[in-house]
Amino acid sequence: MNYTFEQYRESADFLQAKLGSFQPKVAMVLGSGLGYLGDVVEDPIVVPYGEIPHFKHSTAPGHKGQLVFGTLAGQKVAVMQGRMHHYEGYSYEEVAYAVRVLHLLGCDTLFVTNAAGGVNWKFKAGDLMLITDQIKIFMESPLRGENLPQFGPRFPDSSYLYTPRLQDLARQQARRLDLDLKEGVYMYFPGPQYETPAEVRMARILGADAVGMSTAPEVITAGHCGMEVLGFTLVSNMAAGVLPQKLSEEEVLEAAAAARDKFSSLVLACLEHL
Ligand code: HPA
Repeated sequence: MNYTFEQYRESADFLQAKLGSFQPKVAMVLGSGLGYLGDVVEDPIVVPYGEIPHFKHSTAPGHKGQLVFGTLAGQKVAVMQGRMHHYEGYSYEEVAYAVRVLHLLGCDTLFVTNAAGGVNWKFKAGDLMLITDQIKIFMESPLRGENLPQFGPRFPDSSYLYTPRLQDLARQQARRLDLDLKEGVYMYFPGPQYETPAEVRMARILGADAVGMSTAPEVITAGHCGMEVLGFTLVSNMAAGVLPQKLSEEEVLEAAAAARDKFSSLVLACLEHL
């Protein structure tokens, strides 16, 4: 199924009525571990996904399922506390639905964070990685189906999906905070099973530095409608086969909790200096 422009408009109008004259600039899709930033937004206006026409729910662990509008590090933000994933049963269009709605509300920038498995041999669990590019070769694009020209062209350019200027900002802020910020390519896998060691070897050969189950669809959709994008990955574990041990969901959540303060200080610094 394809959403119509009118459906996106209806969701945006519903939210605008709640927001009054407030206009968000930065949409934030926060993955495992960083969702709590929504709790420290000043003058928050909270809207559960379930109340918003055409919105889907988020069912993943650690994902609350609500939008928080307000001020964070001096910027007007719309924080998605919890994202939708394809493995929950949603189409990619549904996964990325909110990005277009937030764009209609005035967001011209998208911040995305996620937890992912480290593929690059030089990485270790707990590292932060600036996403410089992505690979999403599995399954269809969130833009599949009739193009909605109100958002962007049929064949959008993907040369600079992750905005170079924002990458520079992140490098600068990491230096200022004395944080070790790795860089690399995020490769999307649909999940929900973690990758096999053979799949991880394949990802490495293809140029991936980290593998994860989110982010890429939202970023394609943001790029299509001309939004600038900044993305960070928390390497919550080394991907399957890198170390002689099994992967677990607990390990991912624990790593996310342990890295929370350094991760959020970097995200907040980037927001502040945007
Ligand atoms: N693979 C895919 N997604 C993930 C991983 C992983 O190793 N860790 C956290 N999210």
